[in-house]
Amino acid sequence: MTINNDKLDRQARRILRNNDRGGYTVPTSGLYPYQWNWDSCFAAWGFSVFDVKRAWFEIHTLFTGQWDTGMVPHIIFHKRADGYFPGPDVWGVDRIPHTSGITQPPVAATLIRSIYEADKRYGRVHIDLVYGRLVSWHRWFMKNRVDNGMVAITHPWESGRDNAVDWDAAMQAVDPTGVGEYVRRDTSHVDPEMRPKKADYDRYLAMLYYGREAHWDETTIRKGSPFRVGDVGMTFILLRACRDLLHMASELDHLTHEIEGWIAELEEGVKRHWNPDGYYDSVDLRTGKFTGSLSSASFLCWYAGIDSPEMKVKLEEVLSKVNFAVPSLDPQDERFEPLRYWRGPVWGIVNTLIGIGLDESGHTLLSERLRKDTQKLIAEHGFYEYFSPTDGTPAGGDSFTWTAAIWLTWAGPHAKGRL
Ligand code: GLC
Repeated sequence: MTINNDKLDRQARRILRNNDRGGYTVPTSGLYPYQWNWDSCFAAWGFSVFDVKRAWFEIHTLFTGQWDTGMVPHIIFHKRADGYFPGPDVWGVDRIPHTSGITQPPVAATLIRSIYEADKRYGRVHIDLVYGRLVSWHRWFMKNRVDNGMVAITHPWESGRDNAVDWDAAMQAVDPTGVGEYVRRDTSHVDPEMRPKKADYDRYLAMLYYGREAHWDETTIRKGSPFRVGDVGMTFILLRACRDLLHMASELDHLTHEIEGWIAELEEGVKRHWNPDGYYDSVDLRTGKFTGSLSSASFLCWYAGIDSPEMKVKLEEVLSKVNFAVPSLDPQDERFEPLRYWRGPVWGIVNTLIGIGLDESGHTLLSERLRKDTQKLIAEHGFYEYFSPTDGTPAGGDSFTWTAAIWLTWAGPHAKGRL
């Protein structure tokens, strides 16, 4: 098959433009019709390649959703849109713009730093505006969500890896009996075999209702919520984000000691994520047990600035079992399903973060394997949400914003290939 890379570049730009709803970019039309937190940061990064003004606009729009507590929500419901459940009325968050009540992986500081560094002259005024907002968000994490140095999620959706096997055991403690009848909208857009199961969805809603009843008060949720997991992905991502925030603080002549303290605390937390079976793992904070899953998030250690020869061996092992890097779950795991969302498929954005980390740590061959695989998947199958690691089958939503964004910034042949 001959691949026309210029055409793919144009297509990627067109996807970003088409998913633009005026200041924010939807992940894909239909399935996800609002502004999602980490999707939006990737969108901004993608836009920055050809329209830096639009990139900063995306960032500012994201922060219009920031709560007074500092939390930046996982969805911002700017305008009414059909076809998504649970929408703003279900979350019951009393503010404008309406938002969900939970957060998402904080890639913002890292990607904002990259956008700024690519064009400092234009970006200076913008970074001055968002720096304080980033600090408040990170401070919110450190105050409310860091238990023993590990970042706690209170809902699987916060991890960005909705139905990863990492949450299975902890989800058993959630009682789904009161959720009643509801109509899922995701399965009318996408094949149900590629989406989370009903038993999972019932529990997602039970946890949502729990938070709503607690008026999204972090202290109440910390004390009483049945679900609290130290997510290895979140810990790595926040640690990396704090390092980038520290860099910005120095550049902007702000005080740095508070951020240095956060980095030290998270570095300690990383050690607690080490499963004695030989890999980084998530921890059920209610029971103290490891979740026992070697997932793609385990390989974000390099992105967080932590080199690990054991993890390199694990990564090589996992890659030897698939045709396309990196499966969201070790194919050896009996729960592995190549097409079910976060229980096996390859996600371009996770490959990007892992690949950047590998490259920065000098593991160039591995990072190139990830980049070439991602490039091939997109070039041969299209800008899909995720892909089978076994045969590359594309799955989930099409014309996906973050897949287009990482093509332009990291995966495509004309991309910079780093932050
Ligand atoms: C799904 C993904 C999440 C993403 C969202 C919008 O919920 O699991 O990571 O942010 O879709 O694309």
